[in-house]
Amino acid sequence: MAVEMRIALRNYGKVDPNKIEDYLSRGGYEALKKALTMDRAELIDQVKKSKLKGRGGASFNCGQKWSFAYNVDADQKYVICNADEGEPGTYKDRLIMEGDPHTLIEGMAIAAYAVGATEGIVYLRGEYPELVELLRQAVAQAEAKELLGNFKLSVHIGAGAYVCGEETALIESLEGQRGEPRFKPPYPPVSGLWGKPTIVNNVETLAVIPEIILKGADWFSSIGDPEFPGTKVLTLSGDVKNRTFFEVPTDVTLRDVVFELGGGIRSDKKFKAVQVGGTSGAFIPESQLDTTIGHTKMALIGATLGSGAVFVLDDSRDLVDINFQITKFFEHESCGKCTPCREGTMRMRELVEKVNCGQGKAADLDLITKLARVMSTASLCGLGQTATAPVTSTLKHFSTEYAAKLKE
Ligand SMILES: Cc1cc2nc3c(=O)[nH]c(=O)nc-3n(C[C@H](O)[C@H](O)[C@H](O)COP(=O)(O)O)c2cc1C
Repeated sequence: MAVEMRIALRNYGKVDPNKIEDYLSRGGYEALKKALTMDRAELIDQVKKSKLKGRGGASFNCGQKWSFAYNVDADQKYVICNADEGEPGTYKDRLIMEGDPHTLIEGMAIAAYAVGATEGIVYLRGEYPELVELLRQAVAQAEAKELLGNFKLSVHIGAGAYVCGEETALIESLEGQRGEPRFKPPYPPVSGLWGKPTIVNNVETLAVIPEIILKGADWFSSIGDPEFPGTKVLTLSGDVKNRTFFEVPTDVTLRDVVFELGGGIRSDKKFKAVQVGGTSGAFIPESQLDTTIGHTKMALIGATLGSGAVFVLDDSRDLVDINFQITKFFEHESCGKCTPCREGTMRMRELVEKVNCGQGKAADLDLITKLARVMSTASLCGLGQTATAPVTSTLKHFSTEYAAKLKE
């Protein structure tokens, strides 16, 4: 575990999340105090210089996003923490919030000051009811100590759909509408909640902000992969020995993640594939395990780091059947707003099901590839755009498994 480096989880297990005094005793809220003495443009510049990229999946430059909202004149701006964490196999945001709620609150308060927002909302996954009280208690403690100034922070329980993690669907849901993505542009930093400039950041992104402010942009940008610096919290599941979480610099390889941190395959079986980033992640074969986990390097092999979920499969697993389960998930979770995703996820499930139960023909595999191309190009949001990655990556790297199931 020597490779572990904890920034987002720096206080995990070291503070009592119920006690703000514990957080304060470890330098808590010092970053906010420092930020409040800085010029707002200079503060945003520091975050830009740190090259911190969003940890919620899309990997957008955090400081750049803040600068868009900063540059808009508005009577009201919002900072939203995306704590929806609907990605199967992902529980990193829960760990951060339950272990150290104040780091999130401090990160949000810094973001709010930077962009000129006075209102913040944590959009919290509905399946985390115990966290509602913990977060509200932490906010009350920070307010009682007059640490938050005029920044008002509330906790909103999510609507329960996977798509509500998509930032514009999340905003729709907060406004009381169905959780469906909006057409973009305009992007939320320009026109978000109630049409006002809105920053939406993931829990892990916000949790590292206090450390960047205290230790400096150069410190952060020197950690891990220079193109995607810092650390990433990974949650391991599947056929791996250590089904647990790690926060590691972004230049560790997938091989290290699976075989060192993960301890390798559980049984006497062999490694077959690893899916990184959640249900919409690509399946990566053994030959690509020396790739480092940073977003840019992963993109080179057609994969993503996404939410940091790491799902390991041994060689007894049936990838076509697993993909059939995945296509069912996306068919169920598609919100139905746009045609390529609504119809595409259904047709994709039908085609993969047909192949899986031995009724498919070679032409069906061509159709799957064609449909995947249309969905990834034409869908309105990331759900439909990325839903096809598991199927296309397994067709590319594990085509023999599909071929073995064809009718002829
Ligand atoms: C279908 C879908 C689900 C998503 N779910 C989440 C989620 O649960 N948590 C999250 O932070 N981002 C999620 N995202 C990404 C958000 O749209 C957005 O990019 C992110 O919250 C921005 O924060 P960041 O820049 O700090 O990563 C999802 C995107 C899509 C398309």
